[in-house]
Amino acid sequence: MELQNRTALIVGGTSGIGLGLARRLRDLGGTVVVGGRRRDRFSDLEAEGLGTVEIDVTDGASVTDARDDVLAQHPQLDLVVAMSGVMLTEDLRDPAHFDAAQRSIETNLLGTIRVTDAFTPHLIARGAGALVTVSSGIAFLPFPLMASYAASKAGVHAYTEALRAQLAGTGVEVVELVPPAVATAGQEKVNPHALPLDGFLDEVLSLLAQEPTPNEVLVQGVQMHRWAERDGRYADLVAQRSQALQQLPGR
Ligand SMILES: NC(=O)c1ccc[n+]([C@@H]2O[C@H](COP(=O)([O-])OP(=O)(O)OC[C@H]3O[C@@H](n4cnc5c(N)ncnc54)[C@H](OP(=O)(O)O)[C@@H]3O)[C@@H](O)[C@H]2O)c1
Repeated sequence: MELQNRTALIVGGTSGIGLGLARRLRDLGGTVVVGGRRRDRFSDLEAEGLGTVEIDVTDGASVTDARDDVLAQHPQLDLVVAMSGVMLTEDLRDPAHFDAAQRSIETNLLGTIRVTDAFTPHLIARGAGALVTVSSGIAFLPFPLMASYAASKAGVHAYTEALRAQLAGTGVEVVELVPPAVATAGQEKVNPHALPLDGFLDEVLSLLAQEPTPNEVLVQGVQMHRWAERDGRYADLVAQRSQALQQLPGR
């Protein structure tokens, strides 16, 4: 896809991967709005040339209000990234985990659906543009410590496949970004294998720039997760990743 001079909204762009992507698109001449709940970050983000919009993807009215604000200011919007996500660990032997399960599904899966629903009519009416969803390597190779997170991201993958099929012929591209561990959101403190954000974004941008745009943006570091089942490594890798369950109290 063309990456120069896009008019983009990155929901979940107030920090981490989303903010990094927003800065890259801005540096390519784009007009970029980032969305999130943390209004206290907005003045700094605006000072670096990004637009901002308050949005809570767990709240349908907040999503449609944000959509109306963004489209009023940027009727030429042609790229929407549904990046919002929470990454929570859970102990499934303790029913108290349900709160984390609910937050994960509400934010990561239903939030993605709310955001895509809000902008699909606009993009279809333009007859061009792109919707980018964000899953995870964990959608394809579970990390048992993050059970509902994995379920939510596997859901994002399945939903994205269906969305792409349903929007075929409308001129709207549907792309799934599948990050491996990236050194954001505290990953840098707990996961020595997390990719530095800049290197990850270099790979993401060069994959996104391909024509045609790949359906799934798979950097080198996520190939193992994505293809574990095909490559016969799934059971061994899940067993290896299950060792992290020892971090739970009482195990
Ligand atoms: N980092 C990794 O290792 C990794 C790996 C695979 C996939 N991912 C995915 O990549 C995405 C970005 O993650 P990140 O690492 O950049 O984490 P991050 O820095 O914590 O970013 C998460 C973003 O989501 C937003 N968000 C969370 N809850 C929201 C809500 N209810 N409504 C609106 N926005 C909300 C946050 O904004 P506010 O707090 O301002 O609302 C923030 O902008 C997530 O979907 C994550 O699951 C990350």
